[in-house]
Amino acid sequence: MTEVTRLRAEHRAAALGIATGRPRLSWLVEGAPAGVDQVAYEVAAVVSGHDHTSGRVSSAERVLTPWPFDELGSRERAVVRVRAWLDDGTETPWSEPLEIHVGLLNNSDWTESFVVPNHAVEVGQPRPGYLLRASFEAVQPVRRALLHATAQGVYELSLNGVRVGDDVLSPGWTSYRHRLKVYTYDVTDLLKDGENVVGAMLGDGWFRGRIGFGGGRWDYYGHQVALLCQLEVSGDGLDYSVVPLADRWRWREGPVVAAGLYEGEKYDARLLPAGWDAPGAQSAEWRAPYLQRVTAAVRLEPAVDEPVRVTQQLAPVSIERRPNGRVRLDFGQNIAGKLAITVSGPTGHEVRLHHAEVLEDDELGIRTLRTATAVDTYTLRGDGEPERWTPRFTVHGFRYAEVENWPRTFAEDDVKALVVHTDMERIGSFASDHLLLNKLHDNIVWSMRGNFVSLPTDCPNRDERLGWTGDIQVFAPAACFLYDSAAALQNWLADLRAEQGEDGWVPNFVPWLPVGFPEPGSAAWGDAAVIVPWTIYERYGDIAILREQYESMKAWMAYSLQKTGSSGLIEDGFELGDWLDPAAPPDRPIEARTNRYLVANAYLIYSARLVAQVAALVGTADESQFYQTVSDETLRAFRQAYLPADGWGELDTQTGLALAIEFNLLASEQERADAGKRLAELVDKGGYVVQTGFVGTPVICDALASVGQVDAAYALLLQEQCPSWLYQVTMGATTTWERWDSMLPDGSINPGEMTSFNHYALGAVADFLHRRAAGLAPASPGYRKLHIEPLPGSVLRRAEARLMTPYGEAASAWTRDGARFVLRVTVPTGATATVVLPDSRRSQHKVGSGAHTFTTDLPPHAQPSGDAVGDNKKR
Ligand code: BGC
Repeated sequence: MTEVTRLRAEHRAAALGIATGRPRLSWLVEGAPAGVDQVAYEVAAVVSGHDHTSGRVSSAERVLTPWPFDELGSRERAVVRVRAWLDDGTETPWSEPLEIHVGLLNNSDWTESFVVPNHAVEVGQPRPGYLLRASFEAVQPVRRALLHATAQGVYELSLNGVRVGDDVLSPGWTSYRHRLKVYTYDVTDLLKDGENVVGAMLGDGWFRGRIGFGGGRWDYYGHQVALLCQLEVSGDGLDYSVVPLADRWRWREGPVVAAGLYEGEKYDARLLPAGWDAPGAQSAEWRAPYLQRVTAAVRLEPAVDEPVRVTQQLAPVSIERRPNGRVRLDFGQNIAGKLAITVSGPTGHEVRLHHAEVLEDDELGIRTLRTATAVDTYTLRGDGEPERWTPRFTVHGFRYAEVENWPRTFAEDDVKALVVHTDMERIGSFASDHLLLNKLHDNIVWSMRGNFVSLPTDCPNRDERLGWTGDIQVFAPAACFLYDSAAALQNWLADLRAEQGEDGWVPNFVPWLPVGFPEPGSAAWGDAAVIVPWTIYERYGDIAILREQYESMKAWMAYSLQKTGSSGLIEDGFELGDWLDPAAPPDRPIEARTNRYLVANAYLIYSARLVAQVAALVGTADESQFYQTVSDETLRAFRQAYLPADGWGELDTQTGLALAIEFNLLASEQERADAGKRLAELVDKGGYVVQTGFVGTPVICDALASVGQVDAAYALLLQEQCPSWLYQVTMGATTTWERWDSMLPDGSINPGEMTSFNHYALGAVADFLHRRAAGLAPASPGYRKLHIEPLPGSVLRRAEARLMTPYGEAASAWTRDGARFVLRVTVPTGATATVVLPDSRRSQHKVGSGAHTFTTDLPPHAQPSGDAVGDNKKR
């Protein structure tokens, strides 16, 4: 049956507390015969009790279609259905309904105040968490009760002793001086007659705890944590009322004795008063908090993204009793997360939980965590019952844990690891017959999971975990394929915008913290302002993100231009350049082979060209012309400065040439082919180990492949010697590392003070695997047009990529056996594909939606080389 499925509002899977009164709607048309498409649709809605219809809209659009009704206000509710007509005459049934509930759009919608425990705390150490409760009488009749919540700090909520929501570390880290995210919870079923109690645990999180490297900052956003909750009930009519909680709040210290994101959590279960969040009289220890009115200073914004949640639970793959009495657990996977324990024993007994990503000399390798001690402590209640606990206000990067002072014989089920990150939907996959390559891909997925804890970070482990712009700039294409990350990135881009300077400065990490890192916005890092929104547009077909970010892009361009000198080029000032070139000394990662200003200028040319395209879409023709001219003129100066009449001059490094090829900095096809040859030569001379840093690595395989140097691209990709992508896999990695040699071949940890085992930046190559190796590329925004061009090479006999595009599932799966090449393609309804086969004619085929199989003969150079795949299957 042909049906309309997956009806969504904006980029959120749930439409409760949505952030706009004009939610764009998206849906899939599934089950349609091949080649048949939607020609019209109708949206029907019940808004505040009234029926509305868009009428029949003649349009094939179904991705982020405009809201067809009057703008909804805060708290307004709409139940929406969609049906579609297809060009073969089919009319689909109505879709399942989607309930949209608009959040509180304006600060003036808040009548409640921030609740501030009036507690004087010492600065410079992890502080306690607080218990808060507000008791109120039920109001009748209640059809619906919604709780809107946020905090300066991190919270966990309950109603009448039952946990509200399943989010952790909410509301996450945003640019707190500008914006605070609000999540909305449906608590209708938790309300009862008579007395009700809203309970909350409140901790420091990013707001007040220590954040940042080099000692970091304490209390960067304020000395007090605060909770803001507004409970709204609606009855049978359309009215709503706020259940006033303000002066009903009481607070006290509780079982969270001290908690920090880096330090870990100390929890004393004896200090949790029984029934603290349930109705009933409370003792005098509960004190009245300060109340702080909501002002206009900080925007309270309904979240555009899902919160952080526990997304998976892992059991240990090995348990080892250590001579020092500790129990070592190996979860087989490096994650961002925390432990969940079940323990029983005497009252006051203290259990300590240690975390590490790797082992060194058979001990937990914790040096790389720097000052993030990452130890959780649990003190038992000891009432004879099994006690279950997981810390609330911390998160660690770890694969190994050691349990110290366990009160009884350790049982297999006593401890689990909980995987924690922003909840996103997995939409893309990759597989091949190369096991190490598959493992690399798997590791990249895990590094993405480890680094999307509320915001896209560099690492989840040491005292850093910051929103480094350069890292997500290079990783965004991979991220957008692996998970539906549009909402998470949109949320972070709002912070980037908020933190941007008047002069267009984009901090090197967002949110920014003054911790002594050079302030000037570096190219390739700040270019995230342009490239990340562009990637969202390209991958999800969301043009509004370009509108939203356009001023920010232009401001970054202005900032970059103001860095240029009389030559029209950036020639001095702070630049990170090709950060972490393997040739750079471990303690000076900035000292790359490639001239850092060359990198900066290449990015200026590239970004200006993108902004010219954005301007053509959402700005003016003059603006578009302006940025095109900036790009052209910078390119002219670039060529003059770096490309001598003979030879390759300063371009003559792998990163230099790869950028020149991928960013179109070359003057002719001939020059491009020559650059490709030269790049292949350098890669060959380099022995096919990686010789590029954060900037060159994400583009080098693409650069080689796009100039026909396919063998070189694969030789580099499949290299196992250090430094290479697969070296770390052979070393047992389960995530991608920060340094190619975060672990040295002898099993010791790289002596560099900056060494993480969970960084996604160098995993940007996943995009090459999806888009080039398997051949599934977007040819127009949102994959409405697909470009499918598989790249058979080296020993691979099979590769496939699958993606839930905004139109439905697309796939490119190829196999080859000797000269025989078979490609299976899936094109979703509403999309078309150009398929380019690797036969000697590079034959092209245009296909519509449906499943298509192509069989062809490969020229000798495209046939599998050697039989290494056979070997690798044994691994
Ligand atoms: C981070 C990187 C980041 C870099 C730039 C490091 O400390 O972990 O991933 O991009 O600094 O300086």
